[in-house]
Amino acid sequence: FKVPTPVNEPVLSYAPGTPERKSLQKALKDALETEIEVPMYIGDKAIKTGKKVALRPPHNHQHVLGYFHEGDKSHVNDAIDAALAAKHDWENLPWYERASIFLKAADLVSGPYRAKINAATMLGQSKNAFQAEIDSACELADFLRFNVEYMTEIYAQQPPVSPKGVWNKVEQRPLEGFVFALTPFNFTAIAGNLPSSAAMMGNVVVWKPANTQIYAANVIMQIFKEAGVPDGVINLVYVSGPDAGDVIFKHPDFAGIHFTGSTAVFQDIWKTIGNNIHRYKSYPRIVGETGGKDFILIHPSADVEISSTAIVRGAFEYQGQKCSAASRVYIAKSLWPQIKELMLRDIKSFKMGGVEDFTNFINAVIDEKSFDKLAKYIDDAKADSSVEIIAGGNYDKSKGYFIEPTVIVASKPDYVTMCEELFGPVLTVFVYEDEKYDEILKTIDETSIYALTGAVIAQDRYAIDKATKALKNAAGNFYVNDKCTGAVVGQQPFGGARGSGTNDKAGSMINLLRWVSPRTIKESF
Ligand code: NAD
Ligand code: ALA
Repeated sequence: FKVPTPVNEPVLSYAPGTPERKSLQKALKDALETEIEVPMYIGDKAIKTGKKVALRPPHNHQHVLGYFHEGDKSHVNDAIDAALAAKHDWENLPWYERASIFLKAADLVSGPYRAKINAATMLGQSKNAFQAEIDSACELADFLRFNVEYMTEIYAQQPPVSPKGVWNKVEQRPLEGFVFALTPFNFTAIAGNLPSSAAMMGNVVVWKPANTQIYAANVIMQIFKEAGVPDGVINLVYVSGPDAGDVIFKHPDFAGIHFTGSTAVFQDIWKTIGNNIHRYKSYPRIVGETGGKDFILIHPSADVEISSTAIVRGAFEYQGQKCSAASRVYIAKSLWPQIKELMLRDIKSFKMGGVEDFTNFINAVIDEKSFDKLAKYIDDAKADSSVEIIAGGNYDKSKGYFIEPTVIVASKPDYVTMCEELFGPVLTVFVYEDEKYDEILKTIDETSIYALTGAVIAQDRYAIDKATKALKNAAGNFYVNDKCTGAVVGQQPFGGARGSGTNDKAGSMINLLRWVSPRTIKESF
């Protein structure tokens, strides 16, 4: 059995008059005109608890897209039971059968469901058409196709050496128990990847998405079902994180967690797992991609246009809510006047508003909690005479959670917004003396408690090499002369170290290997 060599799903343009634009506009219209009810999916049942919670677009919080049915701890228990009941048949299915299910899922994502899943991501998570396309259509299809490729490589690995009279082999078993997939609001692709990558390797999964992602998660689940994922293999529940955790982390069959979200939540989860370690049959796999405080460093030799584009795109696409988003920038003093002018030119050109108008570059931040947190950082900066706000600084939540793209210039590299993860369209710049490049490299490394993405922009090869070496541990994904966002599956395996996660590179063989537990068999004859 051979699987097709994966290629990255092409990004469609959505230019006026294109067929993809027409079908996306129709999908948006349909979604806005139809209030849906979103059940949980446990085993072969679609569960409606009657406890309905409204799903609203962050850019228009008066509008109701539908309701999800919220569950409680009993539903988490039911989901675990359904997963364990499905386990035997699923793990005994030949791997190529599992592969073909997920390849079909990829084709559904990039084909018949493309407009629907993009519309759900746009409305539920306030992403513009381009950001939705690169996430929910392309990156999700890529995760599924490339992971199938890595899966086949894992199963096709050379057996170990077998001397005469001996046959040695290594069998890749799924984990003993169930896997918990806990997904964040910001990427539909991640929501689809975390349960499917574990399931592909023969595991059964309980999946809990962030509430603000449920609208798109529902479409992913429809795709998995239509592709042929059997009932019970992936179970989708909507319960509070602590309630889900309370059941899952005490369960003896808990075999692993595939998490993406904030560092604080992951650290709490890790402690809880540690406190319950005596309950489990095996040491659980703990895989987590977490927070970031991603940087761009501009060397005096940098091209100013490349610098400015990398900064504004890295910082403000999807309102700075990519885990990879640039949120602190270090700029050589000699270039700052030119780069500042170019940045302000671009920022002024950005239109802000709802996703239905395709000319809006900036949409809303995800929810009121995030809005209030960002507004507080902006207010504190306004009140602090040591910093200057040179762009944005205004916000308005009357219709949607809108925050202007904001640029703060700090006089010290340890100013609070240079260090803490804000997760929004607020960028902080520190201008350094050109001759202090070595010092700034040291500062970046020392202040990087997270280590997800980072970039250096320079034409001087010696400066690039210096940064690459000095910042070896400050970013799991490091870019040279590019923005620090937009890793593509199959091209730049993604993940960070330090406070940013276990660095088990999403969309890579490293990640898939976490979902198997090898057994070595020696037969003598
Ligand atoms: P979050 O940590 O608030 O939530 C993530 C998931 O955990 C959600 O499903 C949430 O409901 C659940 N959760 C929250 N509290 C919980 C608890 N006490 N017990 C169990 N589950 C709990 O994250 P978010 O706001 O949805 O996403 C944004 C964060 O995710 C940012 O910090 C961002 O950097 C990070 N992120 C990282 C990557 C990466 O690859 N490193 C990718 C995307 C997002
Ligand atoms: N692929 C996403 C990015 O790199 C996470 O921005």
